[in-house]
Amino acid sequence: MKVVNIVGARPNFVKIAPLMHAMEASTKMEAVLVHTGQHYDYNMSESFFKELQIPEPDVYLNVGSDTHGKQVAKIMKKFDDFCEEYQPDLVVVVGDVNSTMACSLVATKRHIKVAHIEAGIRSYDRGMPEEVNRIVTDSIADLLLPPSQDAVENLIKEGHTTDQIQLVGNIMIDTLLKNQQKILASNILQMLNVLPKEYALLTLHRPSNVDNTESLGNIIDALEVIQENIHIVFPVHPRTKKKIEEFGLMSRINQMENIVLTEPLGYFDFGKLVYDAKFVMTDSGGIQEETTVYQTPCITIRENTERPVTVLEGTNELAGDDKVKIIDFANQILDGKWKKGIVPELWDGKTAERIVNVFENLKI
Ligand code: UD1
Repeated sequence: MKVVNIVGARPNFVKIAPLMHAMEASTKMEAVLVHTGQHYDYNMSESFFKELQIPEPDVYLNVGSDTHGKQVAKIMKKFDDFCEEYQPDLVVVVGDVNSTMACSLVATKRHIKVAHIEAGIRSYDRGMPEEVNRIVTDSIADLLLPPSQDAVENLIKEGHTTDQIQLVGNIMIDTLLKNQQKILASNILQMLNVLPKEYALLTLHRPSNVDNTESLGNIIDALEVIQENIHIVFPVHPRTKKKIEEFGLMSRINQMENIVLTEPLGYFDFGKLVYDAKFVMTDSGGIQEETTVYQTPCITIRENTERPVTVLEGTNELAGDDKVKIIDFANQILDGKWKKGIVPELWDGKTAERIVNVFENLKI
C-alpha cells in the first residue's frame, strides 16, 4: 500500500512524527512524506524535523505564505501533479490547517482514499479558518480517526456512519510522552533566567486575536496587569510579530518589565516551559491538550474550543479576549485556586500504533 502523509504547518509535524515512525516499522506499507511548505522558517519547520527525528520529506511543494485562497490553490495544483505521478493508495492528513484541506480535496477528486487524523473536533465557529478546514476535510474523507469521544459524537451528528469512524486517541500526546526525557532535560529556563512555577507562558497567533487592534489591545492590557505579579515568557509567532509591529504596539510590550520575548521555540524547549509554568495563556489548540497532560493550568484566550475535553476533564478554562476574565483567572491560579484535571481516555502514547493497525487492515 502506497501511503502519502501530508504536513504543512508546525502542529502537523508534531502529529506526523509518531505516525511516520510506526509506519516505518510496518511491512505492509510504503510511507512517503509530502511537505507543502506552508511553514518554511527554520524554527517553524526544520527544527521539528531534527528534534522529532522525522524523516526528510520525500517531496517539498514549496508553496510559502499567501492569502488562504491562493495558498490552498497552490497546494492543490502541486499536490495534484504529485498524485498524477506517484498514484498513492491512501492519503493521510492530520489536524486542520490549509494543507490538510487542500490535499484532501485533491485526493478525493482523484478517487484516492483519504484518512483524517484528529477528525470530528468542532469549535462551531466558522470565523476560524481551521473550522472550515475541519468541516470540509471530514465531509470528504473516507476514514475518520477522532481523538476523543466528543469528536466521535460530532461526526455521528453530521451523518457519518460508525464504519467510517475509529476512535484512536490523541496523536500529539504520543509525541509528548515519547520525548518526555528530552523535554525535561532542556535548559531553556536557565537560558531565559526564569524559575519553575515563577513564570507564566504566553502564545498568541489566532487571526481573531492578533489581526485586529482591539483584541490585541485588550490582551496587552491584561498582560500589563498580570506581569506585575509574575514573569511572562512570550515566544512570538511570526504572524503576531508582524501585527504587533503594524499596530505600533511593540513599545507597550517593551515597557513591561517582567515580560520576556523570544523567537518561536523548538519542541523540547517549549515543552519544558509548559511543564514548569505556573500557568499558560494561549489561543492554540494543541497547547490546551499539552497543558492538560502536564496538569499545568491553562487560560485559553478564545471564546470557544474544539477541544472541550480539556475544559471538562483537564486544566483548561476559556477567557475569550476579555481582559477582566483573563486577569481574574490568573489571580485565581496565583491564589492556588485551580482545578487539577485528569488525563482523558486514550491520550496514552499509543495512538500511532492504533492508527497503523487500522491502516494495515484496510481493504484498498
Ligand atoms: C497556521 C494554521 C493554524 C496553526 C498555525 C500554527 C491555517 C489556516 N492556519 O497558522 O491552524 O495553528 O499555523 O502556527 O492553516 N510566516 C513566517 N514563517 C513561516 C510561516 C509563516 O514568517 O514559516 C508568517 C507569514 O508572514 C504568514 C504568517 O506567518 O503570512 C501566517 O502564516 P500562515 O501559515 O498563513 O498561518 P499561521 O498563522 O501560521
